[in-house]
Amino acid sequence: MGFSSRGSWADNLPPMPVPPRTPTICPSLMSADAMRLGEQVDSLLAQGARVFHIDVMDGRFVPNLMLGTGTTRGVADRVHPSDGIVDVHLMVSRPGNAIRWFAPHADMISVHVEADPHPHQLLTEIRAAGCLAGLAINPGTPLEAVTPLIERIDYVNCMGVNPGFSGQSFIPETIERLTALRDLLPDRVLLQVDGGVGLTNAASTRAAGADLIVSASAIFGASDPVAAYVDLTDRILAA
Ligand code: DX5
Ligand code: ZN
Repeated sequence: MGFSSRGSWADNLPPMPVPPRTPTICPSLMSADAMRLGEQVDSLLAQGARVFHIDVMDGRFVPNLMLGTGTTRGVADRVHPSDGIVDVHLMVSRPGNAIRWFAPHADMISVHVEADPHPHQLLTEIRAAGCLAGLAINPGTPLEAVTPLIERIDYVNCMGVNPGFSGQSFIPETIERLTALRDLLPDRVLLQVDGGVGLTNAASTRAAGADLIVSASAIFGASDPVAAYVDLTDRILAA
C-alpha cells in the first residue's frame, strides 16, 4: 500500500514522515461482528486492507458509546505484524487523556476541532506520541477552522455524516467540502472521508480528493465483507 513500516516511522520521530497518498479503503470496525472481529480483520488483511479505522465515542461529544483501548490493542496486535495501520478516530470531548491511552496502540489519531478549545496542543501531543496527527471536522463546521492548524496536521478527517452512528446517509455537500479541503491543504496532508461512503459514492469521494476512505456498514453490512471491500477498492482505483 506504500505506507512506511511502523519501525521506520518510529525511528524518524519527530517530525513524522507522511505516507504517500495511495487511495485506500479503511474498514471501520465499529460495524464488524464483535464475536468474529479477529477473523474479519484477518480476512481483510489477507485481501490487502492496511488501514483499520477505530471509532471511539464518549456518549458526550457524540450520542453513542463505542470502542475502547482493549479492542484497539487487540486490533494493533493483529495487524501490526502484517504492516497494518491502526487509525483511531476520537469522538471525545476534551480528548487529551484519551490520546495518551490510545497512542501506544495507534499509528494515526484524529481529534475533532469542535471537541476542545486547544486543538493545536492536541495535534502536537499526537505527533509527540509517535502517531500521525489527524484533525476531524464535522459537516457543520466551517473549513476555515483547519487553516491555522495546517502545520500540525498530517491528515484531515472530513466527516460525511454527523458522527455517532454507522449506516447514516452521506451528506451530499461533503463532496464540495472535500474539493475545497484538497485545494486548501498542502500535498503532504492526506484527506480522509468518514461516514456514509459505499459503492454508489466511493468513486466521487476519491475524485474529489479523498485518499483515505472510511467505510463501516458498506463493508460489514454486506453478506461478504471481503468482497465488498474489494468492490469499494476497485471503484476508488478506477475513479
Ligand atoms: C461515524 C463514524 C464512522 C462510521 C462510519 O460516526 O465516525 O467511522 O463507522 O460508518 P458508515 O460507513 O456506516 O457510515
Ligand atoms: Zn470514524
